Amino acid sequence: MATALIILAAGQGTRMQSDLPKVLHKLAGAPLLHHAMRAGQAVEPDRTVIVVGHGGDAVRKAALAFDDSALIVTQPQQRGTGDAVARALPELAGFKGRVIVLFGDTPFITPQTLQKLAGSKADVTVLGFHTDAKPQRYGRLVMEDGALTRIVEFKDASPAERDIPLINSGVMACDAARLGELVSALGSENAAGEVYLTDIVGIAHARGLAVAAETCPESETLGIDSRANLADAERLFQTRARAMALQSGVTLYEPDTVYFAYDTVIGRDASIGPNVVFGPRVSIESGAEIRAFCHLEGCHISRGATVGPFARLRPGAELAENVRVGNFVEIKNAILDEGAKVGHLTYLGDAHIGENANIGAGTVTCNYDGVAKHRTEIGAGAFIGSDTMLVAPVTIGAGAMTASGSVITENVPEAALALGRARQVNKPGLARKLFEKFKTNQGKQQKVMG
Ligand code: UD1
Repeated sequence: MATALIILAAGQGTRMQSDLPKVLHKLAGAPLLHHAMRAGQAVEPDRTVIVVGHGGDAVRKAALAFDDSALIVTQPQQRGTGDAVARALPELAGFKGRVIVLFGDTPFITPQTLQKLAGSKADVTVLGFHTDAKPQRYGRLVMEDGALTRIVEFKDASPAERDIPLINSGVMACDAARLGELVSALGSENAAGEVYLTDIVGIAHARGLAVAAETCPESETLGIDSRANLADAERLFQTRARAMALQSGVTLYEPDTVYFAYDTVIGRDASIGPNVVFGPRVSIESGAEIRAFCHLEGCHISRGATVGPFARLRPGAELAENVRVGNFVEIKNAILDEGAKVGHLTYLGDAHIGENANIGAGTVTCNYDGVAKHRTEIGAGAFIGSDTMLVAPVTIGAGAMTASGSVITENVPEAALALGRARQVNKPGLARKLFEKFKTNQGKQQKVMG
């Protein structure tokens, strides 16, 4: 059956104490909203409608960056989840199938759970979870004779209802043909004075429609309301990511100190040292080795390559097989072909390094002239002497060499040696004379002072 998604993301998130809209706070390197949208992709929605409000422009931009076909609607005042869904309905005109309502601040919902909801045959299906913790918020699923009859919000619940251990996750699925009529029947006579989406359950039941409850583990429904929640969520994500990496055959020497992004991909038999941080879009092939204290984002590391300790790979760093990147090396938007070595204290930006080229300590690609970025091309087997400044745009031919300490401003032909530094002059005996002079001067000064 066809599926459409409505993702509610209009709330202010007051408790985040932030100028940034809540759904744009990041978990494992991606905005909360993207986590919800990614989870929603599991049901291959025909349409995705995002309801924005607070920080609407920024949230709209973020939603479209993830999925440029997303339909964005604005809820001018946050009058409740029912009102938010009502705003989305015009975008679902003509749609036949199931509509799933998700929250933009609930990042852990799994594809399996959403598929279960998408496959439900009832007119309205609510996703709940069991807990004995008696939380001081959240709606309770009221069951009568084994059937879900309504949801009561915590604020409106009687003491007996507050004891119900089946809690509303907030996620709901509804037959598109019914959603409009149910939402238009909602009022706001409740403790919060809000239009509760949850009330469609009682209305549907009263009208004799089929209402069902599905359940999932509580951890899937974790919503982010505060910085403390966000920190808890990050911890939970990292714990799972570490366990998954270990299970899939990755060596983590000190798992608790390795931080993954939502999309980190690491092949079997790769090894990751302590205190390594992955930003988004990193892939590491089997058998690669990342040593301690590296920061990687937007890069690809091939089989047999070693990186670090203390290396920083930025977006566009592409390391082919058996490349060696050592300590205090930064690489950005640069391709290193097989066997290239860059061992120490180097910056490579906007560059291409040929096979087996050797980049000496302290080399810098001077890629920025204050206005534009320029490229450096280094041919296969080239040897870049220590402390070479490569002033881009510049090309070093295959098998060429640069002398240590050179400032290279012109292209170097294949197999040539380029010297771009002042010629050395030796003055025989001058050092000794200078030392003697300095000592005599020092002796005179001490006498004057004494
Ligand atoms: C909601 C449920 C509650 C459930 C809980 C689980 C209702 C009435 N209550 O309560 O039963 O246990 O989630 O977390 O639905 N939003 C809008 N526009 C609005 C109001 C909310 O877009 O006018 C969005 C928020 O940005 C948020 C989501 O809807 O992403 C949930 O809103 P929130 O106010 O946090 O609902 P809860 O009070 O937690």
